[in-house]
Amino acid sequence: MKVLVIGSGGREHALVWKIAQSDLCEKIFVAPGNAGTAKEPKTKNVDIKAEDLDGLLEFAKTERIDLSIVGPEAPLVMGIVDLFEKNNLLCLGPNKLAAQMEGSKIFMKDVLKKGNIPTANHKVFSEAATAKEFLKNCEIPVVLKADGLAGGKGVIVAFSREEAFEALNSLMVKQKLGSAGDNLVVEEFLRGEEASFIVLCDGKNVIPLASSQDHKQRDDGDKGPNTGGMGAYSPTPLITNELNDEIMNKIIEPTLAELKNRGIKYKGFLYAGLMIEKNEIKVLEYNCRFGDPETQPILMRMKSDFLKLCLKASKTELENEIIEWDDRYALGVVMASKGYPEKYDIGFPISGISEESESIKVFHCGTKKIAGEILTDGGRVLCVTGLGENLENAFQSAYESTSKISWEGAFYRKDIGKRNQ
Ligand code: AMP
Ligand code: GLY
Repeated sequence: MKVLVIGSGGREHALVWKIAQSDLCEKIFVAPGNAGTAKEPKTKNVDIKAEDLDGLLEFAKTERIDLSIVGPEAPLVMGIVDLFEKNNLLCLGPNKLAAQMEGSKIFMKDVLKKGNIPTANHKVFSEAATAKEFLKNCEIPVVLKADGLAGGKGVIVAFSREEAFEALNSLMVKQKLGSAGDNLVVEEFLRGEEASFIVLCDGKNVIPLASSQDHKQRDDGDKGPNTGGMGAYSPTPLITNELNDEIMNKIIEPTLAELKNRGIKYKGFLYAGLMIEKNEIKVLEYNCRFGDPETQPILMRMKSDFLKLCLKASKTELENEIIEWDDRYALGVVMASKGYPEKYDIGFPISGISEESESIKVFHCGTKKIAGEILTDGGRVLCVTGLGENLENAFQSAYESTSKISWEGAFYRKDIGKRNQ
């Protein structure tokens, strides 16, 4: 099979790395990929951006791609799956309507409410003045969410009324995020611990993947600004077998059923961001794709043929499929550029990417190769992922490799996976 993977981050490197291991895989193209994807077996980067839907379609037609797999949300929300399917090309991901689960917080909250799925209470505002009136008397902390896609910058947790007014001003009045902030969701602040629960859907059947936990804040102890994710591990002890079943029965199945009521069949990865407090589970958010960096530790533990699963999902053939997992723990540490998640410089040479082994893999998130040298090319640069018999061993293995890698301005959290120990 010829496969096209769309995207350029650590998630896409992990997807490519795993797909290349499949006997079904003959050739992988990655658009646009990074220095890490370029060196995987059977793989070639192609210089087409993930949002260039016409360019991707042209390429897939010319190369007679058998299956395209979409990593990031933007092309999904733009309707890449609809476009490919119209041209008789298999493309794994939700179509434009289904991708609204991430593309519109208002749509997602409405699905949750109508489907009776536990989530924070919320209100929707389309005018700043009415939102301001509400914020004057609401409980604090309060959470403000831009309705549209905002590249991880659309959610503000306000711990004081002043912060809430400031957030409102920046989203709706100053329109810092453009039209993403035209409409606003204001919701109740939830306490507890977050976990990521990702499932693979084929439009009819659904299979849960292994559980995981991300670390969204930049600094140790969950301090500092929100980021795309500074590290993740799998499985998380927060999600016991019992909770796993409860999440499937009370959250995932009713969500898919509510979408079906609206005539929407969900295909591809569906990511539920959950808040768990004393065994009470609520949905914080849905993403219409695999998580980054969750993909890296999750796929390190997958024993099944991932490409076969993706192919079956895209053809609505997941019934009776099971996924086999390595019992070991996997833990990924994200190494980032000084300044991230705000302004940062790129182009620094990276040294010390050590020999990889069966239990250690350095996934590239933002890198490029120029004149034989690997340079930084993003805010999140690498995700060093280790396997171990327990969480502590996975921690040791990932951090031992991480500590050998450096570039000017590199930093990383030192406490990934330490919350539950
Ligand atoms: P999102 O972009 O929706 O994933 O939100 C980003 C982060 O904001 C989440 O990972 C949570 O840490 C936090 N967050 C979002 N909604 C809430 C909420 N209702 N209560 C507390 N924290 C929240
Ligand atoms: N790890 C968070 C995300 O993928 O959105």
